[in-house]
Amino acid sequence: MAESQEQRGDVQSYGRFTVFIHWLMALAIIGMYPLGLYIDSLTYYDAAYQTVPHWHKSIGLMVLAALIVRVIWKLVTPQPGPISSHGAVVRLATVIGHLSLYLLMAITLISGYMISTADGDPIQLFNWISVPALPAVVENQEDVAGDIHYWSATLLIVLAGIHALAALKHHFIDRDNTLKRMTAIN
Ligand code: HEM
Ligand code: HEM
Repeated sequence: MAESQEQRGDVQSYGRFTVFIHWLMALAIIGMYPLGLYIDSLTYYDAAYQTVPHWHKSIGLMVLAALIVRVIWKLVTPQPGPISSHGAVVRLATVIGHLSLYLLMAITLISGYMISTADGDPIQLFNWISVPALPAVVENQEDVAGDIHYWSATLLIVLAGIHALAALKHHFIDRDNTLKRMTAIN
């Protein structure tokens, strides 16, 4: 019982799975941003045009699958409450900040899928599974989704930067448990 509670996250700390998926997704998302900008700089005649977009889309679809698993996991497992030393303003900022990160992840990932499938073609996931396209929902979908993708990804990276600075401030200045409970070393 104690073991399963620890794995699923008890009231004091995030569980191992949440910690693992948080850092794996953070790493992937931070890496995907420069990869996306690099794609934008390529022309059809660059050798990387045949490979880099393929990697960006395949990794992106894995991140989308991870986000779905992560949200379901969050909804069905007990979550740690706020840290007792955090006042009302910090608690509110935490809730709004985390919700915005989830929303921006979803918008970035879905818009990426919508750029790639705008012409009705499926995405080849690592040349392994063919992920089908849904019917286009707006005219000029490739351009509209492309703009949304760029701006949501940029906002996501900026907000993640503020989020990381906040975590470091809690750790080094306030010296509370905020970062420790997302690294499972407490
Ligand atoms: C982890 C999340 C992701 C991040 C941070 C990200 C970031 C970016 C960025 C910054 C660009 C350059 C946009 C520009 O300069 O206009 C880009 C381009 C692109 N992304 Fe993503 N992306 C992500 C996920 C995805 C996914 C899931 C797909 C598709 C399944 C995708 C497909 C594309 C495509 C096709 C482009 C080229 C668009 C163009 O050149 O207009 N991305 N991405
Ligand atoms: C793209 C990068 C990142 C994204 C998208 C992201 C996203 C998130 C989200 C959505 C949560 C809320 C978890 C939940 O309660 O469900 C969270 C928590 C957390 N993140 Fe990140 N994160 C990123 C990078 C980082 C970095 C670089 C750090 C540290 C330097 C960090 C430290 C933390 C900490 C300490 C928590 C727990 C906060 C608390 O318990 O109130 N994250 N992150």
